[in-house]
Amino acid sequence: MGYRKLLTKRMDFSASHRYWNPGWSEEKNREVFGKSASPHGHGHNYALELTVEGEADPETGMIINLYDLKKIMKEVLEDFDHKHLNEDNPHFRTLVPTTENIARVLWDGFKEKIPGDGRCRLYRVRLYETRDMYVDYWRDED
Ligand code: NI
Repeated sequence: MGYRKLLTKRMDFSASHRYWNPGWSEEKNREVFGKSASPHGHGHNYALELTVEGEADPETGMIINLYDLKKIMKEVLEDFDHKHLNEDNPHFRTLVPTTENIARVLWDGFKEKIPGDGRCRLYRVRLYETRDMYVDYWRDED
């Protein structure tokens, strides 16, 4: 047992999407996804909260340098912000761009860029699609 330090940074982005499973018929897509299956899609103002866990560096007092964290978040969000996810982001050619799946793809992007050097690791991705709904995505430590 010990103290745990979590740092969370929030960043907003806008994207449009369409709920559509290319493996299904049009009828089934419309039945399951309703209006969200409409061909032109619709947009959301998403809010991403990225949390890292770690120890504050004795010299800087930081778990992660906030300039570095901001840069990483901007880089990863380049494939999301102001995009039509189904058309512009290759991950969603086959994967339905639900909040759950977007959170997972974001997690994978951050996992590659956040050091995980023992002092700081990616802890959680929380993604709000609206004020009233969000998804948390994280991995339990082995
Ligand atoms: Ni939507």
